[in-house]
Amino acid sequence: MSDDRLYHIGFGPSDLPSPPPAFAFLSGDPERAERVATGHLDQPRLLSDHRGLVSWLGSLDGHPVLSSTSGMGGPSLTIVVNELAQVGVQAIVRIGTTGSIQPHVPAGAVVITRAALCRQGAAADIAPVEYPAAADPFLTVALARAAADAGITAHVGVTASVDTFYEGQERQASSANPNLLRALQGITEEYRNLGILNYEMESGTLFKQCSVYGLAAGCVLAVVAQRTEGEQVLLDAKGTAETDAITVAVAGARRWLADQTRST
Ligand code: URA
Repeated sequence: MSDDRLYHIGFGPSDLPSPPPAFAFLSGDPERAERVATGHLDQPRLLSDHRGLVSWLGSLDGHPVLSSTSGMGGPSLTIVVNELAQVGVQAIVRIGTTGSIQPHVPAGAVVITRAALCRQGAAADIAPVEYPAAADPFLTVALARAAADAGITAHVGVTASVDTFYEGQERQASSANPNLLRALQGITEEYRNLGILNYEMESGTLFKQCSVYGLAAGCVLAVVAQRTEGEQVLLDAKGTAETDAITVAVAGARRWLADQTRST
């Protein structure tokens, strides 16, 4: 292990090839980060497993690539993204899970977030609340094209990115806290009427942070809850949706890496 390890991600520049990986997949769940690495990258190698934040190094079409964990929510994600930027990462695709709030986006489907309504505290430490939470357009097109080529229906749209899974996503029946603030009562319907597709907990902060740092960011989400029908995570839908989200993210990364090679 190197001495130049970053404190949270647990690895540093001397653990990486030169030039370092320009691209990272970022999953909330360490098991998903492992699944991406061991199932899709060539020569995957575990770089670190620190505080539940695993990072894998491998390659995709000859390009070094990382598959890392963000942990849950904006605060943890900002730390990981900051440290990934310090070791040379230039583009990040989040692979996450989400709850749909639209009837036409079923459980088991895939959402590609093109922008987020960012109701997240950590993002406000990085940029003013009015700063746009927008995905990188080139990365987003690469992801959408990859989905189309793979025959996977992906819903491209706006995501509500919030800090809490229960209160912030208007969960009451499945929550320990039945006392939802007045400001949050009816918020899901309001968002539905604004054409927002879904709830999740990281993309808004990721987009703002990457934009401020000069990094490209994209986001692919597996729909594991259908909030027009209920509050629960539907484990039956999770398997297929997660497999499809990973397929889209990996194929999108291939396109993005090929485009970068052509333009340099
Ligand atoms: N992740 C979320 O943030 N919300 C859901 O409903 C499911 C996954």
